[in-house]
Amino acid sequence: MVQFNLPENSKILKGNYFKDKTGSKNLKKINIYRWDPDKKENPKIDTFEVDITKCGNKVLDILNKIKNEIDPSLTYRRSCAHGVCGSCAMNVDGKNTLSCLKSHKDINGDINIYPLPHLKVIKDLVADLSTLYRQYESIEPWLKTKEKKFKTKEINQSKESRKKLDGLYECIMCACCSTSCPSYWWNSEKYLGPAVLLQAYRWINDSRDEERKERLKIVSDKLKLYGCHTIMNCTNSCPKGLNPAKAIGSLKKMLATN
Ligand code: SF4
Ligand code: SF4
Ligand code: FES
Repeated sequence: MVQFNLPENSKILKGNYFKDKTGSKNLKKINIYRWDPDKKENPKIDTFEVDITKCGNKVLDILNKIKNEIDPSLTYRRSCAHGVCGSCAMNVDGKNTLSCLKSHKDINGDINIYPLPHLKVIKDLVADLSTLYRQYESIEPWLKTKEKKFKTKEINQSKESRKKLDGLYECIMCACCSTSCPSYWWNSEKYLGPAVLLQAYRWINDSRDEERKERLKIVSDKLKLYGCHTIMNCTNSCPKGLNPAKAIGSLKKMLATN
């Protein structure tokens, strides 16, 4: 029988309990994954009692309240707070999402917050996205033209051609999809994953780009593209309502018919 051994100190333990000090009657328990690389300790789940009527509606507002008023050492990424930068992606209530878009009013009972799954944790809710960014770089996500004049001149695009980018250009590379994809969990070194493949499809589909063939060649690798088994977790988890599984299907079709 196969035996799996967890790395030393990987078991998640019960952490500190931060009791409310305001006497509020509108308390919610927020359970948050904590791990500090400087303390040689197991990860733990800290629980914070928070008066959710005294902060904004989003899960990010709760995290900001905890950091500002209870525990300044709580570590997480955020920037725009409007679903644009993609940096606040995390696992809330069992689903990958953007904490600045996710309303805590939709969650019954305690709120459980973890980093994006199946990535190395840097600290608390901050996961290591280096592999994903390397893969993103590998598909060369910028416009490529051969003629020098386009370096100084605007390239026109018809309305029809521009429309083909709808559902693709909105991707903010938050990684919610890739980190909810079982194929990516087990093969992230080789399989590009839904976020990067959606981006690859976006550039292949851009009428202004002149390296369509070369781009298709980059992804036409058994492991880089065909690791997708159409499980659809990616599409179900995209907080921007995009469909990376469909983009991957279209890529496969393009390769089959080219
Ligand atoms: S497709 Fe959606 S979930 Fe995936 S990286 Fe783009 S915005 Fe995030
Ligand atoms: S459809 Fe493909 S990319 Fe999306 S979750 Fe499934 S295996 Fe992963
Ligand atoms: S903070 Fe920018 S997307 Fe959430």
